[in-house]
Amino acid sequence: MAKSTTQYVCQQCGARQAKWSGQCSGCHAWNSLAEEQMQSSSPGIKLGAGRALEFVSLSGEQQPVPRRKTQMSEFDRVCGGGLVPGSVILVGGDPGIGKSTLLLQVVAALSEQAKCLYVSGEEAIDQVRMRATRLGLEKCPVHLAASTSIQDIISSLEAMPEAAVLIIDSIQTMALDTLESAPGTVSQVRACAQVLIRFAKKRGLILILVGHVTKEGMIAGPRVLEHMVDTVLYFEGDRGHQFRILRSVKNRFGATDEIGVFEMTQAGLQEVANPSALFLADRSGDVSGSVVFAGVEGTRPVLVEVQALVVGSTLATPRRAVVGWDSGRLSMILAVLEARCRMNFSGQDVYLNIAGGLRISEPAADLAVAAALVSAVTRVPIAADAVIFGEIGLAGEIRAVAQQAARLKEAAKLGFKTAFVPTQKKESKASDDLIRIHELSYVQDLGTLFQTQSTKREVINQ
Ligand code: TYD
Ligand code: MG
Repeated sequence: MAKSTTQYVCQQCGARQAKWSGQCSGCHAWNSLAEEQMQSSSPGIKLGAGRALEFVSLSGEQQPVPRRKTQMSEFDRVCGGGLVPGSVILVGGDPGIGKSTLLLQVVAALSEQAKCLYVSGEEAIDQVRMRATRLGLEKCPVHLAASTSIQDIISSLEAMPEAAVLIIDSIQTMALDTLESAPGTVSQVRACAQVLIRFAKKRGLILILVGHVTKEGMIAGPRVLEHMVDTVLYFEGDRGHQFRILRSVKNRFGATDEIGVFEMTQAGLQEVANPSALFLADRSGDVSGSVVFAGVEGTRPVLVEVQALVVGSTLATPRRAVVGWDSGRLSMILAVLEARCRMNFSGQDVYLNIAGGLRISEPAADLAVAAALVSAVTRVPIAADAVIFGEIGLAGEIRAVAQQAARLKEAAKLGFKTAFVPTQKKESKASDDLIRIHELSYVQDLGTLFQTQSTKREVINQ
């Protein structure tokens, strides 16, 4: 017999407690417990009552995965080359970043090839229509509805066997009548997602869920949602900047860490085919503390400017401020420079910025950060036509990184003439006639970056 009991569920980690308390016993978050009704039914598994499974070998006939393309190449690439029928995609992002805009554009593009449904739980029909008019998409044959009831959505879908794509904006507004908890709580989000995902898998429907992001940057509600879906995409960006980045953090049908770059304009999101040019657009060469890092995001090389500023501090504990990179990694680079190059950062505030608002997670940016710091301290600019990449170890050694050829090719394409790279093994040496390559083995070798600038150093010292 199913019995309903009250439990307190942490809205951050999903841990359950019988009693309310101010702090979650699982993740120690404060004020995160919410009261929820649980349906507890006895498991009632009888051993030996199941059906025997048929085990098969690893090799066998495979059908190539058919993919539905939106013709928005940035979106398709992030999804691994198009959307796979029966797959579930979760799109997370801050409020107002442009999730609804992106998905309306996606659904409009797909509506030309298949029956597409867009269910909004956040906005009224008129609001969505207004946005569609603004984007010039009002003529697209999208089937639009405003609802927050999962039962209604599933019943409608059952009457539409030809529906191929369903967008739910957002999963936090949806509710199952059978559960008493409020929409947006862990149990509602989980139960709604479960019902929708089961339906999508059974019918081969492409299901795209919009999820809100908490202050901590996680998709609000349960982390379990991320485990239930096939693909998790984050839509990021600064509201101060025009461009937005769609990043895949999990993808069962493609590469992760792939990014798609869009620009928010008056007419919606426009794809940015050459992000490196965009990230470097505002760069002014010949400034100390600025270097160009040749990075790789997913399968695509992207050049970005790394900026550092080192100034005397008036604080007892000097500031270490980082935008777009890992602050732990910055501390490590500072320690390596202090220990191996006898540089002194105590009593100095250090600011590090990845220009343009991109977030970099690659260790390959170590060398670029170190070069920017050295340039900031010595106030000697690095040649404006140079790119740099490489990982730094604690002994001060510079380690090789993946996809060197792709990085150099992108740099050459954008007109860079010199590259400072880790020492390569003979057999994997990239031969590139378009760009002059300087190999560095230790952080101490960073001095070679400034050799061509000696005349400028004299000017500064005078
Ligand atoms: P929206 O898609 O509603 O964000 P989300 O669903 O993630 O909450 O985006 C809203 C923002 O986008 C809003 O601040 C206005 C801006 N915007 C444009 O700049 N141009 C456009 O064409 C559209 C439709 C929105
Ligand atoms: Mg929205």
